[in-house]
Amino acid sequence: MISAPRPLSAHRPAAPLAGTLRVPGDKSISHRALMFGALALGETRIAGLLEGDDVLRTAAAMRALGAEIVQGAEGWTVTGRGVGGLREPEDVLDMGNSGTAARLLAGILASSPGFAVMTGDASLRRRPMKRVIDPLTACGARFESRSGGRLPLAIHGAVDALPLEYRLPVASAQVKSAILLCGLNASGITRVIEPVATRDHSENMLRHFGAEVTVMVEGAGRVITLRGQPELIAADIVVPGDPSSAAFPIVAALLIPGSVLRLEGVGLNPLRTGLFTCLREMGGDIVIENERLEGGEPVGDLIVHHATLRGIDVPPGRVPSMVDEFPILAVAAAFAQGTTRMRGLHELRVKESDRLAATAALLECNGARLEVVGDDLLVHGTGRPAPGGGLVQTHMDHRLAMSALVFGLASDQPVRVDDGSFIDTSFPGFVDLMNGSIGNGGGSALRTV
Ligand code: S3P
Repeated sequence: MISAPRPLSAHRPAAPLAGTLRVPGDKSISHRALMFGALALGETRIAGLLEGDDVLRTAAAMRALGAEIVQGAEGWTVTGRGVGGLREPEDVLDMGNSGTAARLLAGILASSPGFAVMTGDASLRRRPMKRVIDPLTACGARFESRSGGRLPLAIHGAVDALPLEYRLPVASAQVKSAILLCGLNASGITRVIEPVATRDHSENMLRHFGAEVTVMVEGAGRVITLRGQPELIAADIVVPGDPSSAAFPIVAALLIPGSVLRLEGVGLNPLRTGLFTCLREMGGDIVIENERLEGGEPVGDLIVHHATLRGIDVPPGRVPSMVDEFPILAVAAAFAQGTTRMRGLHELRVKESDRLAATAALLECNGARLEVVGDDLLVHGTGRPAPGGGLVQTHMDHRLAMSALVFGLASDQPVRVDDGSFIDTSFPGFVDLMNGSIGNGGGSALRTV
């Protein structure tokens, strides 16, 4: 549970980053492992689950719906209730800061007969839910929300849910997954058409649990079909390291002269690796070793050396594969030589914060030059360390906080953040892990102030 604000600061470390580290488990896959495990029959064992606040909210919600979820020394186990076997929750479901938890759960609840109420923290209560309410209503569920389709949300699940056919108006894996989860307890074929491919962890995991899922590639997009009311069978899951979390030590190592860092077991699903493509195009020295498949997802070890970066043009079609990584890419861009153009960032406005505005403010208060033109962000790097010295407002956004702290590790002056407590939603232990990766026995470049 995120409680008191935690102001933090970061300054240039006394030694470069060095050594080997592992980042926590993938957030997207962790949520899905708990949800699909709860909908399967039998006992699913999960290794490497992210134990961050967002995922713990999903665990609590699935318990409230009747699944048995236990955290043991060897990992987590979920004893599921089967598709259609969830019970009505006795109390309000509080999804904390997590948009993924709230939207995916809305899909499950839409086709589960019974009544449920869902809420979240101040950040989540500002975020749009209409993008799932509108399509899910067509299955026969009824939703009542606060104005603007925001949480709290009351849901009357459909008794005999109809299968949905839906063309996504925004590239969103959360909306796609909500429709597929709803389709699990609907009779017949659910079909989702996505004009641009988004992360496919739900499709992969559904197959892993024995559902019949087909995926057809159509231009840049995909058509996904699911046969409803399958018997999902419990299956073990190994959660890879989260590439979205690996992004922070990777960029820190690229920016701090003399650094060499090895990150083991990082998820390399091609629909998640847009940032790595960008950083390499900028001249980043990132080598992938030991590529392998773990639990159906590609994984590898990344070796990162400090490098001199240059500005690039990031095409809008790449946005879904790095939608959470723009704040940290903007930090890298502020230290690169020349302009980095990031285009088509409208979806960033509805994340944990308005990430387009908040990223621009992060750079601005630390002396970097940038422009926001419509939904595009242009960062004009000088090729020299940026000034720093700013106090960054994080707006309850974990990725903003970590991006600002990485900025402070490389800038001339330290950088402070008003509240780093939300880092625990996705990257518990971030401060210790970063301090521990400073060479010569570690350091305390990141600290509570
Ligand atoms: C997620 C999808 C993305 C991403 C979020 C996790 C998921 O959101 O920003 O952090 O697990 O499906 P959208 O699908 O809404 O872009």
